[in-house]
Amino acid sequence: MSQESLTVTDNRTGKTYELPITDGTIRTMDLRQIKVDDQDFGVMGYDTAFKNTAATRSKITFIDGAKGILRHRGYPVEQLAANASFLEVAYLVLFGELPNAEQYAQWEHDIVHHTLVHENLRTFLDGFRYDAHPMGILISSIAALSTFYPEAKNVFDPESVELQTRRLVAKMPTMAAFAYRHSMGFPYVYPDNDLSYVGNFLNMMFKMTELKYKPNPIVERALEILWILHIDHEQNCSTTTMRGIGSSQADPYVAVAGAAAALSGPLHGGANERVLRMLAHIGSVENIPAYLKRVEAGEERLMGFGHRVYKNYDPRARIIKDFAHQLFEVTGRTPMLNIALELEERALNEDYFAKRKLYPNVDFYSGIIYQALGIPTNMFTVMFAIPRTVGWLAQWRELLGDPEQKIARPRQIYDGIMLRDFVPMTERS
Ligand code: CMC
Repeated sequence: MSQESLTVTDNRTGKTYELPITDGTIRTMDLRQIKVDDQDFGVMGYDTAFKNTAATRSKITFIDGAKGILRHRGYPVEQLAANASFLEVAYLVLFGELPNAEQYAQWEHDIVHHTLVHENLRTFLDGFRYDAHPMGILISSIAALSTFYPEAKNVFDPESVELQTRRLVAKMPTMAAFAYRHSMGFPYVYPDNDLSYVGNFLNMMFKMTELKYKPNPIVERALEILWILHIDHEQNCSTTTMRGIGSSQADPYVAVAGAAAALSGPLHGGANERVLRMLAHIGSVENIPAYLKRVEAGEERLMGFGHRVYKNYDPRARIIKDFAHQLFEVTGRTPMLNIALELEERALNEDYFAKRKLYPNVDFYSGIIYQALGIPTNMFTVMFAIPRTVGWLAQWRELLGDPEQKIARPRQIYDGIMLRDFVPMTERS
């Protein structure tokens, strides 16, 4: 008997099975041989929310949740955030290696040349109400892009995949900024290709009547670091959505729109907006104990705390917190930061959080920095979606090249009525 195996005895039949263990996992399809008789479907795994199920192999992102480790393609996120540009990390995540100077120049050139969106997209945006939430606008306009590029449906055409990858990475900041400008009633600002990826985004967000927008280098670098930290996070809810939609061979625009929709929820990327609203609701440091009592009583959630995978400090939160200290030394501390620091310290000293291993996640401090950079609260989740598009695309490309993948199709345990005869309406009580 191989040591790398699991021996299972079915007490219903007394039969014993040996299931191979590879990479620390058993194949749940191996359970199907475990049957009471020939008519039996076989044993399935039941795992709502995929808490203990690996649905893919991946070479993109490594997380050790117990130790608080995050690496992309083997590089610690701390080193990437400290040394690289966003487009450099995007190249790494998408293609597997850091680019050399020539590859980087070509990559930057490709992105810069796809930043414009079709003029019809502008008229499409005009259809939204004046006060539409920018995340709703973004999700719908990414889906709409699919109609502009029908060749994107050829998901096994390598040339098309490369082109759509570049288009999506390049156009996300444009569409995000347009969504904001629409929600403010401001005129749209076209991309300025003299600027960096991040600098150009700031230009499209904030340029008013000046001839040339000059991004503040501190703001530009701060945003770049935040975007690097949000670039990918392996099989989270939105990435799983991207892979689920991609598994039906739908085009990448509708798949990214679906992933962005999954991101928008308050338990995922929508949390950063909720953190700021929570801090505003708490209002002052004196109100923290009462708020924590409500959280412990199950009346509220401490937004920006807790994570499915990290049962230790989220390494991204640590970098953002350190960075917040540096940034606020220059700009001066805001009342929000004071509340957040005190809230974190008190929560970490409470039994409730210690017992459940709840630590600040990436969203706890990111909103405070976005706010200091002048980004409005309703744009926070959009700010998450722009860099995460790179991760979604990398995961989608990996899926398409993975011979083990098929259309995603979980099983269910049917809990309903098994069979009954139709009753005409006149005879129903
Ligand atoms: N505040 C209070 N209690 C919490 C929190 C929280 N933020 N998070 C988890 N718990 C409790 C939860 O009530 C449960 O307690 P009990 O065992 O007594 O029922 C226990 O901790 C385990 O929580 P869970 O809900 O089973 O954990 P999960 O892995 O299903 O959820 C989570 C993970 C991130 C959705 C959750 O921690 C949460 O809702 N956090 C707040 C929202 C948030 O910050 N989301 C951003 C996540 S990181 C970035 C991203 O993914 O976009």
